[in-house]
Amino acid sequence: MAKSSSSFSCTECGAKHSKWSGRCDACGAWNSIVEDKGISSGPPSKSLGARRGSSIELTDLATQETPPPRAHSGIAELDRVLGGGLVPSSAILVGGDPGIGKSTLLLQAAAHFAQSGLKTIYVSGEEASAQVRMRAQRLGLADAPVKLAAETNLRDILTTLEAERPQLAIIDSIQTMWADNVESAPGSVSQVRAAAHELTSFAKRRGVAVILVGHVTKEGQIAGPRVVEHMVDTVLYFEGERGHQFRILRAVKNRFGPADEIGVFEMTGGGLTEVTNPSALFLSERGQPSPGSVVFAGIEGTRPVLVELQALVAPSPHSQARRTVVGWDSGRLAMILAVLEARCGIPFAGLDVYLNVAGGMKISEPAADLAVAAAILSAREDAALPAETVVFGEISLSGALRPASQTENRLKEAQKLGFTSAIAPRGGKAVGATGIALNTMSDLTGFVGEIFGAG
Ligand code: TYD
Ligand code: MG
Repeated sequence: MAKSSSSFSCTECGAKHSKWSGRCDACGAWNSIVEDKGISSGPPSKSLGARRGSSIELTDLATQETPPPRAHSGIAELDRVLGGGLVPSSAILVGGDPGIGKSTLLLQAAAHFAQSGLKTIYVSGEEASAQVRMRAQRLGLADAPVKLAAETNLRDILTTLEAERPQLAIIDSIQTMWADNVESAPGSVSQVRAAAHELTSFAKRRGVAVILVGHVTKEGQIAGPRVVEHMVDTVLYFEGERGHQFRILRAVKNRFGPADEIGVFEMTGGGLTEVTNPSALFLSERGQPSPGSVVFAGIEGTRPVLVELQALVAPSPHSQARRTVVGWDSGRLAMILAVLEARCGIPFAGLDVYLNVAGGMKISEPAADLAVAAAILSAREDAALPAETVVFGEISLSGALRPASQTENRLKEAQKLGFTSAIAPRGGKAVGATGIALNTMSDLTGFVGEIFGAG
């Protein structure tokens, strides 16, 4: 017979340990390690088999289910990111850096949903009711029929929600919630997890849509909303640079719609306003064609978005050359530099490389590869790309160019914004060709030769 093994976990960071110790070596917290009890610890013990559970009901896949009716806020950018409106009894997490505008966005959303007839409760654990009311006044939303509370006690909040039965409850933020049956401090992983669990199961049980606000710290995971992501139906991140007015609401997970969908907003004195044509906004600061500047025709979710990539390549005064990236993956940049060196014989040793995505946008699409390579080469050769040209395409390690998805949508958007030509991999489907001159290539060497006349 197997001897009973026990396991331990940290109540602060959730790390598993095989034995108890005074300090968790994963997160450094003291006195946070407790023994895991219950059915999750180890192989099934005799006691679980001894007492039988009741049998659960099974259904067929063919059971007819009507699609959930969705509520619309009237803020088109928000409704699209939600997958076409708010699904009843869904749990949504809205994450983002402190101060990025989550409370502003959700107060506006609450007001719009309430005005469209949804019974809405907004619970703030961070601000006093008077503060929230003042903000609503400043946003011109003071007469929206939203019910307001400033509270952090989860038990009291749940009791109230149970009695009031709203259709939408907004909890700002999950880190301030405090469940009195959990011992650790508010904001710790076990508190955040317990609060999110209670609120999401309440959402399912009572058919209430629940929106949880979560702060992400720059350092990353500790007590951040990451632990909540798998519990909720939809995860939206509110991104942007403090210095820029643009804010992007991005769906990173959505059980009721496409992931990677974005909504674009601008932070103004009167709150967040929708940006219906993000490409025009992202390109608005672009001047004359200059070396190092390339327009990437990207796709965000279901929508094409044009953004400007800026690169700077300069001799490095350091013994180790710098590679600095804003808005893109630095590992991916290293890969592209390596491919340019290995396949096209263009060295970057001793050169600092800076890459910036204009407007505070973050890009994760591999189709940006070719635009990045073009920006870097253009900066290195000090030669601007042909005017009014967009670039897209994925680069493989062999130096071959892979066609990107939705070539046609990218071209249409480019044409709409007045671009006249595009550089793209060969083989993309561009039927119903638009009025754009499409210059296709099959590998990076061909691209370098044709555009920069080098190789
Ligand atoms: P907030 O919604 O409080 O951020 P979060 O909840 O994510 O921490 O937004 C705070 C910032 O937004 C603050 O720096 C001021 C700015 N802001 C405006 O520029 N205009 C406005 O109308 C409002 C309400 C806030
Ligand atoms: Mg806030």
